[in-house]
Amino acid sequence: MTAGSQALVSVVSLTKIFNDRQRGREEIRAVDAVSFEAHAGEIFGLLGVNGAGKTTTLRLLATMLKPTSGEASVCGHSISKEPQAVRRRIGFMSTATSLYGRLSAKEMVTYFGRLNGMSREAIEQRILELFDLFGMNEFRDRRCDKLSTGMKQKVSIVRTVLHDPEVMIFDEPTVGLDVLTSRTIVDFVKDCRTRGKCVLFSTHIMEEMEKLCDRVGVIHDGKLLACEPVEALKSRTPSGRVEDAFVKLVGEPA
Ligand SMILES: Nc1ncnc2c1ncn2[C@@H]1O[C@H](COP(=O)(O)OP(=O)(O)OP(=O)(O)O)[C@@H](O)[C@H]1O
Ligand SMILES: [Mg+2]
Repeated sequence: MTAGSQALVSVVSLTKIFNDRQRGREEIRAVDAVSFEAHAGEIFGLLGVNGAGKTTTLRLLATMLKPTSGEASVCGHSISKEPQAVRRRIGFMSTATSLYGRLSAKEMVTYFGRLNGMSREAIEQRILELFDLFGMNEFRDRRCDKLSTGMKQKVSIVRTVLHDPEVMIFDEPTVGLDVLTSRTIVDFVKDCRTRGKCVLFSTHIMEEMEKLCDRVGVIHDGKLLACEPVEALKSRTPSGRVEDAFVKLVGEPA
């Protein structure tokens, strides 16, 4: 990342409190005054354990949830005041991204391309490119409910990036995938960086974060405990290992 490169994602004191009725209206501070920036040509990782607040942070940015307080912008557009403009500039993929079982892989992707305002020709072109890249041609006409986990994941990713958005948000995209499929996705994410995209990526896998991310935000109990280049995170402990730095930051389990 070069100094002064453009911040495409800017998050200021973002907070989301859930009032969970099933838990006696207990207040859950899923995201607690989180601030960070992510730039064009950068992969920014959110690293945290289960329940840390990664998905909630990313869903707020994708305008799928409204913040309790704080603000964030994507390509200069406010997530609360201009959600439509934000949605046009992002692609959001999460493990919960649902597919319509009765549509084929190709129909599913085409459907979302149309929703994003793409022309039929542009959709055809991107499908040729991406189905080839992800090795999806053999199942392009198979119904989504007949696909394996990894195949579904690939459809979700292609559907997310078809319109080539400036900001790509991937919530644990490699969960449940074999080593070859994971590698295809990791290479794709790196290629997005080369093409000047801003990529937000969440994971709880240390090696993945280390391999991919330029900077990382360590999130725990909704709070951002550190936000720095991967090298800086590693140098927090004598071992120089991300895992040790992470444990030092979040504290040993009780
Ligand atoms: N819709 C909701 N209603 C109530 N509580 C929620 C809701 N969504 C998330 N939470 C709570 O917010 C906290 C953060 O959850 P979140 O899904 O953001 O974590 P995460 O870091 O993505 O975890 P994981 O690694 O398991 O995906 C958790 O305590 C979770 O139970
Ligand atoms: Mg999650």
